[in-house]
Amino acid sequence: MGRLTVNLAGVTLQNPVMPASGTAAYGQQMAQQLDLNALGGLVIKSTTAEAKVGNPRPTTAPTTAGWLNAIGLKNPGIEAVLAEKLPWLATHYPDLPIIGSVAGASFEEYVTVAKKMATAANVKLLEINISCPNVDHGGLAFGTDPATVEALTRQIVTAVDKPVFMKLTPNVTDIVPIAAAAEAGGAAGLTMINTLTGMGIDLATRQPILAHGTGGLSGKAIHPLAVRMIHQVRQQTKLPIIGVGGVFTPADVLEFYLAGANAVQVGAATYGHPTACTDIIAGLPAEMDKYGIESLQQLVTEVQG
Ligand SMILES: Cc1cc2nc3c(=O)[nH]c(=O)nc-3n(C[C@H](O)[C@H](O)[C@H](O)COP(=O)(O)O)c2cc1C
Repeated sequence: MGRLTVNLAGVTLQNPVMPASGTAAYGQQMAQQLDLNALGGLVIKSTTAEAKVGNPRPTTAPTTAGWLNAIGLKNPGIEAVLAEKLPWLATHYPDLPIIGSVAGASFEEYVTVAKKMATAANVKLLEINISCPNVDHGGLAFGTDPATVEALTRQIVTAVDKPVFMKLTPNVTDIVPIAAAAEAGGAAGLTMINTLTGMGIDLATRQPILAHGTGGLSGKAIHPLAVRMIHQVRQQTKLPIIGVGGVFTPADVLEFYLAGANAVQVGAATYGHPTACTDIIAGLPAEMDKYGIESLQQLVTEVQG
């Protein structure tokens, strides 16, 4: 086992760093800029039952400390992902673990997409994006209500034979009961956090900087929030946690481990700079040396017991 090897619910990754959902699409463009085999894994864009065209532009805008985005789950739909995107990854990167990100507007859609996604041999874990609006309940995000999270987790876990990670939204008063609900529903792990709802307004046009109005804030501004939330949730669970939120450097990765994470995703940094993950992976051993950390597994044992 190497210094950087990690184990997530029985799935071994050669290192803990992977691009976050929505920032590497399905890997094809990224493959022109780096060797995907160097990644710990690849999280694909959240995928729905049918293709989605996304929101009107502009859908992303930089702010003083991070990106606002309202892409609107633009994706080709699960059938195209199964027929084209996942086979392309399996052919060109047969050893790359894929984390299949699932989204939906109803329980039924989540379960349908999760079942189909789980049939792909290279999808090793499912990650359920519960920041989506629940159309049956006035559009409130699934991930904001513990009872909904528990029931949704249970339905998905029952329907598939692969580990299910629930990706939590930070747009709640207290994330701890939401994490507990995912665990009660049978989740194999947690990914945290998704973006925080924000807004920017252009002084000249007096209009929001995103056509959608509000958008999700990602990047450096949200890193301390992610650290706090991972730390809080780690106090109450032994489930593996994939940390995400404002990771830009190897030091940010180690900070997430100290908070209680078991692996890390890189969103905004990847969006601005496609080689962010591989740069971080290359720098990790030297950063670990600085603090006398022999291996990430050793660090997990020290922090999590
Ligand atoms: C352009 C963009 C698109 C995103 N699309 C998705 C998505 O499809 N599904 C999802 O679960 N999260 C999505 N996210 C959220 C990221 O995966 C991540 O949780 C969030 O940005 C926080 O991490 P960061 O600060 O490293 O970006 C997206 C983020 C960005 C910036």
